[in-house]
Amino acid sequence: MQKEVKMITKKIIVDQSYYNDKVKRLGEVIRAGGLVAFPTETVYGLGGNALDKEAAKKIYMAKGRPSDNPLIVHVADISEVSTYVKRILPLEKRLMEAFWPGPLTIVFPKKDIVPMATSGGLRTIAIRCPAHEAARALIRAAGVPIAGPSANISTKPSPTTADAVLHDMDGRIEFVIDGGDSLIGLESTVIAVENGKIIIYRPGGITRDMLEAFAPTELDTAITAEQEHPKAPGMKYRHYAPKADLSIVEGAEEKAPGMKYRHYAPSAPLTVYAGNIEAVESEILSFANKGKGKFGFFVSQETAEKIPAGNIIFVWGRRGNKKELAHNLFQGLLFFNNHPVDHIIGEGTDGGGIGMAIMNRLTKASGTHIINMN
Ligand code: TXA
Ligand code: MG
Repeated sequence: MQKEVKMITKKIIVDQSYYNDKVKRLGEVIRAGGLVAFPTETVYGLGGNALDKEAAKKIYMAKGRPSDNPLIVHVADISEVSTYVKRILPLEKRLMEAFWPGPLTIVFPKKDIVPMATSGGLRTIAIRCPAHEAARALIRAAGVPIAGPSANISTKPSPTTADAVLHDMDGRIEFVIDGGDSLIGLESTVIAVENGKIIIYRPGGITRDMLEAFAPTELDTAITAEQEHPKAPGMKYRHYAPKADLSIVEGAEEKAPGMKYRHYAPSAPLTVYAGNIEAVESEILSFANKGKGKFGFFVSQETAEKIPAGNIIFVWGRRGNKKELAHNLFQGLLFFNNHPVDHIIGEGTDGGGIGMAIMNRLTKASGTHIINMN
């Protein structure tokens, strides 16, 4: 039997001087086929050389992710894209110029230089240029594009801090660069351009309204559409699935097809109440004091103030402040790792602006257990 060597993941703290020796050294680790988790403005990425199929395999291993779920390739500048894609349409160019560096990922037909292992067997490749300086410094230091899925174990919430990365990845990767809290807190918007239309595969920080200003948009998130072959292949897998009923989910996939799209699982089943706010509040309050450790609350500050002391509460943020809600979303789902409860009672938000991305993640995290109160 092969002897197991336990790897220790080192946390490297970077400051404003990102172009320092530390980042240069980590670029070499990537080029040599190693894995380095890095901060971005959306969530932390699990980085490896996107042109090296062995590195791509290591990423899938570290995450426990099915190898047909493609990785996002990160570049440091728009000018790099043409090296990896067959064509760039004028609309794609305008979108890159408008939103890069930033939370927009575009799916292009790929050139052969990008291995199929990176694209999950697809002929297309998703590319984005992250806004976080440390991420771009790492890409430049590596001298290669960096494949970077979110740095969590497959089906768990995405990490927005270096410590959340370590929670899932300690011992599985060489380094994590600590660049502070991810500013946005939700993964990038994933799109493709088809026949002059922008198809949104995953809503994110760049909202539908922002994209509509460039071309007509269409949503194709495959959350409820039980497509045989979802266009964004990640969408067909469970994400963020509650630990407690995981076995039921696996056994019941055929009967409850929505379940297979769960991602971002918190440590207990989550039910989210959305819609009329008075009704939402009174429904949530009805769970308070039903026994300590039974229910945990993932609620706005306004609702939290009405929940009696002694309950386990994650104060999500101010109700109307969707930036704050987006920023705290994954930290909130991870909060219950350290505050065990049997069931999480959550509050939703409306689907306007970045609310669409927030509700998309909550829909998956709850396994579509969203109760609409009217
Ligand atoms: O904000 C982000 O995008 C973060 C940071 C680290 O950049 N990355 C991230 O990667 O969220 P990941 O692998 O967790 O999610 C990638 C998503 C998946 O839903 C995947 O199916 C989709 O992008 N995707 C990747 N390549 C694709 C392709 N060729 N066609 C359609 N969808 C693709
Ligand atoms: Mg992910």
